[in-house]
Amino acid sequence: MNPNPPNRETNDPNSRAPIFVVTSGKGGVGKTTLSVNLAVELAASGRRTMLIDADLGLANAHILMGVRPSHSLTDYLEERAQITDILVEGPCGLKLISGGQGIKEMANLDEQGRRRVMDAILDLRPYTDLILIDTGAGVSTQVTDFVGIADRTLVVTNANFTALTNAYGIIKVVTQDGYDRPIHLIVNRARSPEEADQVYQKLKGCTEKFLGFGIDWLGLVPEDARVNQAIQKRTPFTRLHPDATVSSYLKKLAKNLLKLCPERTAC
Ligand SMILES: Nc1ncnc2c1ncn2[C@@H]1O[C@H](COP(=O)(O)OP(=O)(O)O)[C@@H](O)[C@H]1O
Ligand SMILES: [Mg+2]
Repeated sequence: MNPNPPNRETNDPNSRAPIFVVTSGKGGVGKTTLSVNLAVELAASGRRTMLIDADLGLANAHILMGVRPSHSLTDYLEERAQITDILVEGPCGLKLISGGQGIKEMANLDEQGRRRVMDAILDLRPYTDLILIDTGAGVSTQVTDFVGIADRTLVVTNANFTALTNAYGIIKVVTQDGYDRPIHLIVNRARSPEEADQVYQKLKGCTEKFLGFGIDWLGLVPEDARVNQAIQKRTPFTRLHPDATVSSYLKKLAKNLLKLCPERTAC
């Protein structure tokens, strides 16, 4: 029997569900693809999972899971809805909050607006086992504020030099801002495990040498044309191709992430 059915109604007011933030510096490296597939896998494993699409104004996680959100953070910020009212149901019982698509005001949200969003995310913790936040590109406060409330940061990169440089850039910026919790690396579009390991060693070497701390390994996802096919079909690739190698790597990633959840939470 599944001890943690995703739709169970009981909420523990003392629960402090861990918050994981997915970021990269550079755009287009696979943050949203991995966030959506990770969140779906975590939900499928029985953990109550919330995915916050924090690419404010250009949110697209819902597209990758074939969902049309009836609400977004705009409704919350304009006081038309409570934060719990804007949760949208995704695959496997996953709960999604969309950051709004094509909304300039969201992309230019001021400090007060961002603070309200952060506080609302923190308030969601009793209602879930785990929160995953997908961020936009860049190193602006639109991104770093979300890292600031996370228990753990998952940095996504690929083997390209520009992606690697920007991964280092976001790590440098958030730690200079005071972030002092663990940072884990995901190497996406890896052409081999050896290549992924080289990327990890390179980035870890840089943070150790120039910033004075190391980063942890979380896992790799290989380059696979089925990832893009699944996006075209608006279905998470782990659902469309459950037996493909790329899906088994993603599932391993989800397992590694669950190992990081503190025991006192349901995950
Ligand atoms: N493992 C992969 N293999 C092949 N293509 C991928 C993989 N991961 C991501 N992509 C491609 O990269 C594109 C950008 O991914 P996306 O998740 O939107 O990046 P980000 O959120 O970082 O901007 C996707 O549309 C997809 O085509
Ligand atoms: Mg994205």
